[in-house]
Amino acid sequence: MIDFPLQAAECMSYQKEYNASIQNPVKFWADKAKALSWYKSPQTILSQDENGADRWFADARLNTSYLALDYHVEQGRGNKTALIYDSPVSASKERYSYQELRDQVALFAQVLANQHVGKGDTVVIYMPMIPQALIAMLAVARLGAIHSVVFGGFAANELAVRIDDAKPKVLITASCGIEVSKIIAYKPMVDAAISQAKHSVENIICVQREQGPAKLDGEFELDYHEQMAFVERSGQKADPVEIQGSDPLYILYTSGTTGKPKGVVRDNASHAVALKYSMSAVYDISQDDVFWAASDVGWVVGHSYIVYAPLIHGCTTILYEGKPVRTPDSGAFWRVVEEYGVTALFAAPTAFRAIRKEDPEAKELAKYDLSSLRTIFMAGERLDPPTYEWTHKHTKKPVIDHWWQTETGWAICANCLGLEAMSVKPGSATVPVPGFNIQILNSMGESLGANVQGSIAIKRPLPPGCLPTIWGDFERFKQSYLSEYPGFYTSGDGGYIDEDGYLFIMGRTDDVINVAGHRLSTGEMEEVIASHDAVAECAVIGIHDPLKGQVPIGLALLKDGVDITEERLQDELVAMVRHSIGAVACLKRTMIVSRLPKTRSGKILRKLLRQIADDEVLNIPSTIDDPQSVDEIRSVIKHNGLLKTKVNEAV
Ligand code: COA
Ligand code: AMP
Repeated sequence: MIDFPLQAAECMSYQKEYNASIQNPVKFWADKAKALSWYKSPQTILSQDENGADRWFADARLNTSYLALDYHVEQGRGNKTALIYDSPVSASKERYSYQELRDQVALFAQVLANQHVGKGDTVVIYMPMIPQALIAMLAVARLGAIHSVVFGGFAANELAVRIDDAKPKVLITASCGIEVSKIIAYKPMVDAAISQAKHSVENIICVQREQGPAKLDGEFELDYHEQMAFVERSGQKADPVEIQGSDPLYILYTSGTTGKPKGVVRDNASHAVALKYSMSAVYDISQDDVFWAASDVGWVVGHSYIVYAPLIHGCTTILYEGKPVRTPDSGAFWRVVEEYGVTALFAAPTAFRAIRKEDPEAKELAKYDLSSLRTIFMAGERLDPPTYEWTHKHTKKPVIDHWWQTETGWAICANCLGLEAMSVKPGSATVPVPGFNIQILNSMGESLGANVQGSIAIKRPLPPGCLPTIWGDFERFKQSYLSEYPGFYTSGDGGYIDEDGYLFIMGRTDDVINVAGHRLSTGEMEEVIASHDAVAECAVIGIHDPLKGQVPIGLALLKDGVDITEERLQDELVAMVRHSIGAVACLKRTMIVSRLPKTRSGKILRKLLRQIADDEVLNIPSTIDDPQSVDEIRSVIKHNGLLKTKVNEAV
């Protein structure tokens, strides 16, 4: 036990708030909604839509871009810094006040309006971490349109899949991204995606970067800066469009168990209320604070905590185009904290593992003044106790683990510093955030007692901020999240609650893995591997990695009569996965096996494979066809030095 003296049960302010949120959610959230400036306040707090899905504040009228920008300008805070852009990879730094950011967003919204983007249209944004990415998101929101940001590390094929699902009118991109010192040309990837997609995008708008300009062809490929200059000269600016609370703000694709990513939909009103509440209740942030989420706008953490929450709350946000290490060194995070007086830093544990690896004695950290920093928040993957302890010991700051998902959009479980800080237990994401009624269930749907591991489920209704559906596929939403345990949302994570009410997340119970804080689907990688001519069957599993948390490995069974070396097959499969999904997939190892554990009906026993990779006690199902396959797989993995080490696990 470290940091804060009180145990969860002793935190009466937290308990009171939490109980109020569970006993009377409608009253609770009606009250929280008052913190926002609505065009029309919600009259109906919770309702069901035509699918029977829970919707919060459906009849409210608002505009999220207004809440994030204009509202603050109207309140006399136009000169306050809204955004700091720090890019060691392009040697640039910029600051935007709320007024400047509002003006840029209004101009770009006009550019989009000139391309006939309006309420309800979709726009795909495929961009590196530059201010124009954030401006584009807020400009789309200003028009009441729906953005779908695609992470820049995804390959053309992934972009094409998202284009076909979201059916955007316009695609906004940049000429290149910069990965440390490597220039990644985006435009060729956009071109490949557009030619692969069935859906036709009407226009492309491209931000030209001097590090790698792109060739723009024809009248449908527009230069961002030229368009901005044009609307500025013409004196046009788009005003925020008033929309309905339940209108979607964005679609964010995330990995599921199958190859096709799921388009998580976020409503405007419920999102704004949840994020506003989270900034004070979870993060304890005021408008004087500088909030830095060292993530990417392509992920949910970037959507919620680089863009929307800090701006809706009215504090300063940082957009950092760099890595925790190598840009230029492992002091990068601490330099940013000192330079901008960061008060809260939020990043994935893998970032701190990368820093620790290069600077175990924290010599770089000692060079900087971290006095502004009050708290370090971590999420995106399990915070392993050694990383927690290293960070806590060297920064001497509270380190707060919190658990959430793209689907929820904000923390499900946290140490809610703004309500009442409670004692930290390394390895635990602490307690449920108000609004989330968490239960640990067994396969029969029965609630389990303290310290018994099961599926983590959330009793409906989910609080505001969480997804009401999958874009264009309510059935998939129902199937994926609501059907396993009636009345509950299935999180896909397993874990337990201890005798003090602390939640411990033990990992996914499905085929989703988490690589360097990036959520990936093993099913999707399997589809790529299975398309290789030599492969009859395959499985991809996540194995433990000391830096990235997990990395995928492929197990391939060859077709009869195929003659290929393991090395050549591996090179080809790695290249295929990079080409099809992107470098972020981090698939570097594949192995040839002579059989895979299967049921008698021919289904690959993936859960068993996960248990083998994690070196857990094996639950070998009675339906297994060939029990010897288990030992064989285990010895192949062991032989390759890939069995999980237990070193990092000691609490
Ligand atoms: N655009 C293009 N390529 C990208 C990319 C992007 N936005 N992001 C990553 N990649 C590429 C990398 O260049 C690398 O390519 P390579 O195999 O050719 O070297 C590959 O994808 C793997 O990237 P990554 O897993 O990030 O490894 P890394 O060695 O570059 O960096 C970390 C390791 C730990 C420093 C980095 O992963 C990190 O900072 N992770 C934190 C992630 C995060 O913030 N997640 C959000 C949840 S809070
Ligand atoms: P994403 O949707 O990309 O945010 O990934 C969500 C998944 O990341 C969760 O379902 C968990 O498996 C994992 N995750 C996120 N935060 C944590 C955490 N604090 N502890 C353990 N796992 C986490």
